[in-house]
Amino acid sequence: MIKTKGKFVYEECDGVQVLFDPSGTPLMTDIPKDVDAQRFAVNACAGRILTAGLGLGLFAESVAAKDDVVSVLVIEKSQEVIDLINLQSPKISIVCGDIFVFLSSTKLRFDSAYFDIWPRSSRDIYEQVVLPLRGLASRVVKHIYCYKEAAMKRSL
Ligand SMILES: C[S@@+](CC[C@H](N)C(=O)[O-])C[C@H]1O[C@@H](n2cnc3c(N)ncnc32)[C@H](O)[C@@H]1O
Repeated sequence: MIKTKGKFVYEECDGVQVLFDPSGTPLMTDIPKDVDAQRFAVNACAGRILTAGLGLGLFAESVAAKDDVVSVLVIEKSQEVIDLINLQSPKISIVCGDIFVFLSSTKLRFDSAYFDIWPRSSRDIYEQVVLPLRGLASRVVKHIYCYKEAAMKRSL
């Protein structure tokens, strides 16, 4: 099955889901490597959760299924991605926007956050994206988890 919205493409083939960005680069898949890479955050998050971005919605759905999770707010910058991905859990709300802008102005408070908005991990991404995001989020989130952060810190 293939669905498109704008230049984003969602494909499900042989039981594997893939979301492609407008350049044709896979943003997220549900192969075990991608699912396993965020399992630590699914396990660690509890209470009121903030996450960015949506991708296939795998983190949001997995964490929402936990009994110790009350709510999951997803900030996703692309309306096309939101339109493509159908999530089932009533605990999940999705807002279209940039996570940096959201964190700069929100009055909401969260117990845990998981950020996964960078396509690859590198020293530059750590210094230019992860650290500023952590700085902004620390005002409103108690526990912050980031995709591939441990690997990025090891490479410093
Ligand atoms: C790798 S995917 C996230 C995968 C997700 N963790 C999952 O479980 O399916 C990255 C997502 O972040 C979104 N994104 C990128 N930059 C963003 C930003 N500044 N604010 C909000 N969302 C952003 C992208 O559009 C994309 O949907």
